[in-house]
Amino acid sequence: MSRIEIIQGDITKQAVDAIVNAANTSLLGGGGVDGAIHRAAGPELLAECRTLHGCRTGEAKLTKGYCLPARYVIHTPGPVWHSGDRGEEALLASCYRSCLTLAAEHGCETVDFPSISTGVYHFPLEKASRIAIATIADFLAEHPEIKRVRMVCFDARTKAYYDEALEELT
Ligand code: APR
Repeated sequence: MSRIEIIQGDITKQAVDAIVNAANTSLLGGGGVDGAIHRAAGPELLAECRTLHGCRTGEAKLTKGYCLPARYVIHTPGPVWHSGDRGEEALLASCYRSCLTLAAEHGCETVDFPSISTGVYHFPLEKASRIAIATIADFLAEHPEIKRVRMVCFDARTKAYYDEALEELT
């Protein structure tokens, strides 16, 4: 599906309508991509996040992008991987769907995602990539208003899994 692209890069550098932040339920920042986004956006992002009073795993909340080239940041806490029997897969799919729903509601045509939950939260990359691509593809089939979704992978190993997941889809 040409409306889904996989690139390697730094999501904080992407000039798109919305970038997604792999946050935690406090929405008060952290390490990984969360830390990078807050550093690049500046302190006003945290100030707005403080007004949101957290976010449940699998749900999403939108803020402005401030100093980022992206217009909005959509924050979503992904599931921590335990052993796959705590609904982790459904929660990860819900992250992607919740973010895209918010993006569509705010008129976003271009949305960039990091690989949610596959860092500190230890979600297995192969499973996560298949869930992400399938969920994005299903959503785009119903929402022509979103023109392009990209997975912005920070390293080549992660990108390879998402490339494979996309090839399996087509
Ligand atoms: N651009 C794109 N992807 C990035 C960037 C970046 N600048 N920095 C890191 N990543 C990638 C990681 O390499 C990984 O593939 O984002 C993916 C998600 O990893 P994490 O950031 O660790 O996120 P996650 O596994 O969802 O864990 C979330 O980590 O940082 C804390 O506050 C956050 O508690 C939350 C937890």
